[in-house]
Amino acid sequence: MPPALPTGDPPPPDGRLPNPVLDRAGGVPFGVYVHVPFCQVRCGYCDFNTYTAAELGSGVNRSAYADTVIAELALASNVLRRGDPTRIPPVTSVFFGGGTPTLLPAEHLGLIVREIRDRFGLAPDVEITTEANPETVTPGYLAKLRELGFTRISIGMQSAVPRVLAVLDRQHRPGRPEEVVAEARAAGFEHVNLDLIYGAPYETDTDWQATLDAAIAADPDHVSAYALVVEKGTALARQVRSGVVPAPDDDAQADRYVMADDTLRAAGFEWYEISNWARSPEARCRHNDLYWSDANWWGLGPGAHSHVAGLRWWNVKHPSRYASLVESGRSPAAGRELLDEDARLTELVMLAVRRREGLACERLPEPARARIPQLASWGLVDPSAVDDGRLVLTQRGRLMADAVVKELLFTS
Ligand SMILES: C[S@@+](CC[C@H](N)C(=O)[O-])C[C@H]1O[C@@H](n2cnc3c(N)ncnc32)[C@H](O)[C@@H]1O
Ligand code: SF4
Repeated sequence: MPPALPTGDPPPPDGRLPNPVLDRAGGVPFGVYVHVPFCQVRCGYCDFNTYTAAELGSGVNRSAYADTVIAELALASNVLRRGDPTRIPPVTSVFFGGGTPTLLPAEHLGLIVREIRDRFGLAPDVEITTEANPETVTPGYLAKLRELGFTRISIGMQSAVPRVLAVLDRQHRPGRPEEVVAEARAAGFEHVNLDLIYGAPYETDTDWQATLDAAIAADPDHVSAYALVVEKGTALARQVRSGVVPAPDDDAQADRYVMADDTLRAAGFEWYEISNWARSPEARCRHNDLYWSDANWWGLGPGAHSHVAGLRWWNVKHPSRYASLVESGRSPAAGRELLDEDARLTELVMLAVRRREGLACERLPEPARARIPQLASWGLVDPSAVDDGRLVLTQRGRLMADAVVKELLFTS
């Protein structure tokens, strides 16, 4: 079972936002996330809000999904533009994530993009990304996405090693993600990401190095690399608990992070967030930057999260409940919370320390600032950045980012 949603206040049935929140909503970039909650098979490690056909049952029709999302967009437009249609600036990024967005026909993704454009406008240099599972796309599908305005594709490679792909339950054959990079380039995609996972059961350092080398040889301009997390309630968690497979080893995962950072840097990629490397500033994922910089976004789809000016809300998780609410004109929001100043500061610090730009030291309260020299002496923050008034993690610091945040904010 996926994890429960956070608790919060019940949102109003029409999804209306409080006036003080709307008053603060202008003047920052605005992005749209579209969640597509369908997968052919559930990978044993994944606890995202996604459903196979068997899990969905008969109440949900994939082919009607775009229309349902478009109905939520009408609600989003009414809520955000109430009283001032110019409050929200044109959309700077759209991100289709999942689940597996590429299980929907490209034309359906295009209809959603068109509706976002008609409702909010698109910035001239808008970034439009979709995640794609390698086995679900063809050269024709990728060309269609480009025609429909997509500018970036994020391919779930995870590993180049057959044994690791098998333990992760991945459906694509080894080598297919690299082919998709070439097909995406041929279709005209300038920005191509490969998602990788390290530290899976039975993966060796040699396997991970082979994965990194294969990813780099495919020539994407962006790589995301995540340590495998054993999420509660997943098939992987059950296998680990019963001893069928070994738990990931923290030290091995730390070593593999260092391997990733060193290998990617040698190949011309620079980290710009703990788990993300780009070949150039233009290759960074602007949609992720928007999340990490406290901007505004609306998350469409079941279980999607939204944020406007310190107010966060999240939608009901099940696609059939989501569809019945949206199609009857009601808000699909399940709960919401307004962050107070302390909570916003904690979030700001947690997100900013993960980024290469780091955190302006002056944003920290005095007791936290006083701890920075100690963190520098432990080799966790870059002393030359501190001299320039910024807190930026070293490679060692990136391995211990949570401990750094704890030391800054929660140690008395
Ligand atoms: C939820 S998936 C959606 C995209 C697409 N369905 C796929 O699998 O490539 C997005 C990314 O999250 C990462 N991910 C999901 N579950 C994870 C876990 N338990 N540990 C580490 N990374 C995970 C994977 O790298 C995956 O590419
Ligand atoms: S394909 Fe992606 S979203 Fe679907 S179960 Fe696997 S990791 Fe999760």
